[in-house]
Amino acid sequence: MAERLALFATTARGTEDLLAEELRELGARRIRQDRGGVRFLATLYEALQVCLWSRIAMRVLYPLGEFEARGAEGLYDAAASVPWEEHLTPDHTFAVEATLRDSEHSHSGFVALKVKDALVDRLRRVLGARPDVDTREPDVRVVAHLAREKLSLSLDLCGEPLNRRGYRVRPTPAPLKETLAAALLRAANYTGEEALVDPMCGSGTLLIEAGFIARHRAPGIGRSFAVERWPHQGARAKELLEDLRADARRNERKVLVPIQGFDKDPEALEAARRNIKAARLSEEIQVAEGDATKPLPLPKPGGLLITNPPYGERIGTGGQKGMKSFYFKLGESFQELDGWRAHILSGNPAFESAFHARPSSRREVWNGPIECELLGYRFGFRGGPGAENRSEPALGPANQARDVLPVRPEHEDEEEP
Ligand SMILES: C[S@@+](CC[C@H](N)C(=O)[O-])C[C@H]1O[C@@H](n2cnc3c(N)ncnc32)[C@H](O)[C@@H]1O
Repeated sequence: MAERLALFATTARGTEDLLAEELRELGARRIRQDRGGVRFLATLYEALQVCLWSRIAMRVLYPLGEFEARGAEGLYDAAASVPWEEHLTPDHTFAVEATLRDSEHSHSGFVALKVKDALVDRLRRVLGARPDVDTREPDVRVVAHLAREKLSLSLDLCGEPLNRRGYRVRPTPAPLKETLAAALLRAANYTGEEALVDPMCGSGTLLIEAGFIARHRAPGIGRSFAVERWPHQGARAKELLEDLRADARRNERKVLVPIQGFDKDPEALEAARRNIKAARLSEEIQVAEGDATKPLPLPKPGGLLITNPPYGERIGTGGQKGMKSFYFKLGESFQELDGWRAHILSGNPAFESAFHARPSSRREVWNGPIECELLGYRFGFRGGPGAENRSEPALGPANQARDVLPVRPEHEDEEEP
């Protein structure tokens, strides 16, 4: 491998600038934002630092090449031209994952199969034997992305995507991805030095990611990375990672600010408690039953309120009318807060006017297939509670034409939420 590797880290759309900033802090060079990811240069050490410390990246890829590939034969020929013998031996396992965008092929499995066939045939020809496929925990994970007729082939340094921190032990219906939660916290400039509350915490993802930041804990500390099992760099990567992990453990700090969550659903709270325990943050994070539309016992003198309220896509939410009335009540309740800034991730276009406060910032982000906005507010900093934010309630027909949630087209290149 070259001294500095040209790498590509993927992220949720709308968070590329946040990832670029984080990569810069982790020592990456020549950082260039792209759609759904960031290109950068890094030594092996820096790349491992990114695997262990990036809170926002989903995957860290080592691109092997880009090809024009038409039809099944084009895919096979392109994949067969890659010198796989430099990256794999018959004694290591591998898997190919494929994603498609605007492609002539309709099944990603077909593209993965063609790449796998070409790889296996080449290794049989060059090395006289082929490696086995292991789709669960391969040593080498090959990522194929086909956008129209452009095939990109990469190796994934991480293996399991980086959002799999290892603490999600209890699934809930609509959790935020850990990496997206971390990106939202960065967008809100959360550094772990102020109180944090999520009044609709669900399974606790925002709380746990905030806890990691406040504790200065490496998000990847509880997991391994595929690069540690690569045939040629694996042993060196393992050694470097051992040092990086030891440093990370030594540099954790005590959390001096409250981190609190509320939810009205006892099952969600139970999931949050279990996840918090698995994340080893039971002392740092408190959760309790509470209704976000009513006054909650929040710590003084304020801090950051961050949350993603229900979007209304689930049955039993009273349809869009019910959601508007819920957002209206949330607005009433939050505007009574004193000294809190808030960041609210909304995937329902009716949220903003029903909430009836003027945001001081906004950012478009994709929560998997749902286009969302992260809206920033400041409550009760000047002229009485909520004074800066007051705007006229707009629950009238203005919102009614926007009742349908925008859904991304098929074959998008990001992960599902
Ligand atoms: C989209 S989920 C939040 C997911 C969460 N960020 C996670 O990662 O798991 C919305 C949550 O709001 C909760 N909720 C809905 N209405 C509420 C209310 N009035 N007060 C408190 N929580 C509420 C739901 O029970 C659900 O857990």
